[in-house]
This record gives sequence, structure tokens and C-alpha cells, in this order.
Amino acid sequence: MNVTIFGTGYVGLVTGACLADGGHDVVCVDVDEAKVAMLERGEVPIFEPGLNEVVSRNVRAGRLAFTTDAARGVAHGLFQFIAVGTPPARTVPPTSATSTKSPARSATRWMGTGSSSPNRPSPSARPTASGP
Ligand SMILES: NC(=O)c1ccc[n+]([C@@H]2O[C@H](COP(=O)([O-])OP(=O)(O)OC[C@H]3O[C@@H](n4cnc5c(N)ncnc54)[C@H](O)[C@@H]3O)[C@@H](O)[C@H]2O)c1
Repeated sequence: MNVTIFGTGYVGLVTGACLADGGHDVVCVDVDEAKVAMLERGEVPIFEPGLNEVVSRNVRAGRLAFTTDAARGVAHGLFQFIAVGTPPARTVPPTSATSTKSPARSATRWMGTGSSSPNRPSPSARPTASGP
């Protein structure tokens, strides 16, 4: 399944790498160009035991890619995870969604612009919530 993760920090990178290791096709989007460049060179910017190997293995297998291109990320994933940092409580209330709104805005901006992804159903084919 095609999956997109916004934010390649502790949560996003580990989640993306593990999903890729489980056979999913993952694109990780981050606004930090230096971090994305590092990851593309095979350098992992955080320490998690074994993460280097999992990232390298899945990049080599073509199941894990990194980009700063939000449009590419939105076009890729049937599922879109937002794992960006949240602001410290000193500056804004901890419940603020300011940070998560940014990738959410990117997602809604690029959705519906068409996708070449074979795994992504057209809007009419997507499942809808059904209730009682
Ligand atoms: N790390 C933990 O143990 C942990 C535990 C529970 C909850 N969380 C929550 O999970 C979220 C992520 O935490 P983390 O530790 O991975 O943070 P992090 O700071 O390590 O990583 C966040 C990443 O998001 C990127 N980013 C910021 N804005 C972006 C945008 N608009 N689009 C794409 N990428 C963007 C940053 O460049 C950074 O690489 C936070 O909300 C945090 O509170 C983290």
C-alpha cells in the first residue's frame, strides 16, 4: 500500500521505515531540506537502535523515499500520516493544531489535482464512513 508521512523526526522516520520494512511503499515528506538531503545520502539524523539498517535496506529496495515536495507526497499515499512537531506549551497552548495544519493544508491543496499513483483510487471509489 502507498503511504505518505509528513515529518521525518523520531515519530515519522521510525514509522515510515517500519511500514516500508513491512512491505509498504512509503514517501516521507519534510520541510527541512538539509534533513531530506542527509536521508537521501543514507545518513540517519537521529539515533534509534537498528534504524540505520532498516532505512538503508528499504531505500535500496525502493520502498522508502524522501522529499520536500508536498505535492509528490500527497499524490503518493492512500494513507497520509502527519508526524510534524507540535509547538512547546510556552509559546502556544499544547492543544494547538497550528503545526499539523500546515501539512494538512498542503494535503487538501494538492488533493483532487489528479494522481498518477496506481494504488490511489479516484475520489468516487474511496470508501466513505458508514454509520448506523
Ligand atoms: N518523539 C516522541 O517520543 C513522541 C511521543 C508522543 C508524541 N509525539 C508527537 O509526535 C509529533 C512528532 O514528534 P517528533 O518527536 O517526531 O518530532 P521531531 O521534531 O523529531 O520531527 C518533526 C519533523 O517534522 C518536520 N516538519 C515540520 N513542519 C512540517 C511540515 N509542514 N511538513 C513536513 N514536515 C514538517 C520537521 O522538519 C521535523 O523533521 C509531535 O507532535 C510530538 O508531540 C512524539
